[in-house]
Amino acid sequence: MSKQSIIIDTDPGQDDALAILLALANGDALDVLGITAVCGNISVKGTAANALKVLALAGREDVPVFLGAPAPLVGALVTADVLHGEAITAGWDLPLSKASPRAEFAADWIIDTLLSRPAGTVTICALGPLTNIALAFAKRPEIADRLRALVMMAGASQGGNMNAVAEFNVFVDPHAAARVFASPVRKVVASLDVTQKLLATERDLGRLMAIPNRIASQVSGLLRLYEAYAKAGSPRPLHDPAVIAWLLAPEMFSGKDVNVEIETAPGRTYGQTIVDVNAVTGRATNAHWLTDADREGFYRLLESGLTRI
Ligand code: RIB
Ligand code: CA
Repeated sequence: MSKQSIIIDTDPGQDDALAILLALANGDALDVLGITAVCGNISVKGTAANALKVLALAGREDVPVFLGAPAPLVGALVTADVLHGEAITAGWDLPLSKASPRAEFAADWIIDTLLSRPAGTVTICALGPLTNIALAFAKRPEIADRLRALVMMAGASQGGNMNAVAEFNVFVDPHAAARVFASPVRKVVASLDVTQKLLATERDLGRLMAIPNRIASQVSGLLRLYEAYAKAGSPRPLHDPAVIAWLLAPEMFSGKDVNVEIETAPGRTYGQTIVDVNAVTGRATNAHWLTDADREGFYRLLESGLTRI
């Protein structure tokens, strides 16, 4: 496989950190052009700082970080402490980075990068709310045609984690998600449907936390959140690394082309990804919706990446 150029748009977030490290550990396949921070798990200043910490941990402060949207397109920011409580900040006592975010606004850097590189050569990996990408598409719609793909952790068709039907990244900014899903860019979606098949068991976490290197030992702190859930008998998925895993080993996943629309009206279904799984609406398909994954293969990929990085 030829080396792919990727932009990681992210709201670190413990699982985002694992995804970034997995991408950096596979430098033979993935060239991380930059990281754009977005509000989500915590504030955008916090997510940018955490992205810088992860890059410093990996010895990759050469990768630029850009500050993005501090709030969703409409309404106030809802952060993930509603999901995890202050545990969302667990494990982030990583060494501070000497680097700072670059001056350019994230959406503008995304635009400049896509306009300056050959069409079809850059993939965006979206690991948080889609606000930065929606802003970039709004400012320069033509960049959607220049992207190779947009691979995202977003949505759910079998139950949400923020209300009965909505997944966090879409719930935080459904208006941004609506704009992104309406764009012509090739979209691959790792929703809760597939990440719920990647639950981090005590065994998986034990193997990752036992990897004998400096980076993995620091990552162990970030995994404490998941270890606590697993020990309590309700293991949680490492959502975001599924996006990078799909890029590295798409054969580990299966999915189907569907039409996805987003519920932006206030109420019980706010932020729902309305997935026409039975193709009854007659609406054109606009996303490749992942439905299954090789769980063991996923954790082997993570383990080999953290061992090698
Ligand atoms: O719903 C899971 C998503 O919300 C993940 O991307 C996690 O990091 C949080 O952003
Ligand atoms: Ca995330």
